Amino acid sequence: MIRAFLFDLDGVLTDTSEYHYLGWKRLADELGVPFGRAENEALRGVSRRESLLLLLAGRPASEEQLQEWMERKNEYYVEYISQMTPADLLGGVTELLADLRASGYRVAIVSSSKNTPLVLDRLQIGGLIDVVVDGNAPARSKPAPDLFLLAAERLGVLPAECLVVEDAAAGIDAGKAAGMRTLGIGPRERVGHADLVLPNLEGTSAKSILKALEG
Ligand code: BG6
Ligand code: MG
Repeated sequence: MIRAFLFDLDGVLTDTSEYHYLGWKRLADELGVPFGRAENEALRGVSRRESLLLLLAGRPASEEQLQEWMERKNEYYVEYISQMTPADLLGGVTELLADLRASGYRVAIVSSSKNTPLVLDRLQIGGLIDVVVDGNAPARSKPAPDLFLLAAERLGVLPAECLVVEDAAAGIDAGKAAGMRTLGIGPRERVGHADLVLPNLEGTSAKSILKALEG
């Protein structure tokens, strides 16, 4: 029985995945590294450092350069998200979070991003969330199960009682590795290995999701 919903943030509740892409693209152009939307798919859901290493694709770099490039990308990203408002919540999200609260489900945000507190502050949905676990936690990032397991522990539920909602292949992998059920948001080529796949959260409710999951 599902008792808790564990939501990824970037690309599930809001379209910050586009801002992550634009930040990396700007850095890649400056470094003269070929990088486009196809390459960006592999970066979804993974940590800042792992994203940079994927972008560099084996090109040598000193630790000092890695740090400088991660900082530079983050400056671009923070510049983009500073303009966000609650209007940047994706369709159906506020309604679903309110429905989960009214129906007594536990809700967590589980994100690899160290910028999670800033984004949540801009979106103003704190009142609908019980627990936040993000990239600042001393744990391995997705696709490792650690962040999701930490969220379940803090919510006081078992992994088998959790439904992970993710837009990234690495996030679905992490949820499965944690022994949780998974809902993939987006194209099947990306999240087809989830237990259930939906294009987005528009028009969903706790009941409709769980019914489709048991389908
Ligand atoms: C994830 C995003 O949520 O957070 C990734 O999907 C991003 O694209 C990762 O790289 C780390 O984010 P940040 O804000 O700590 O650089
Ligand atoms: Mg995501």
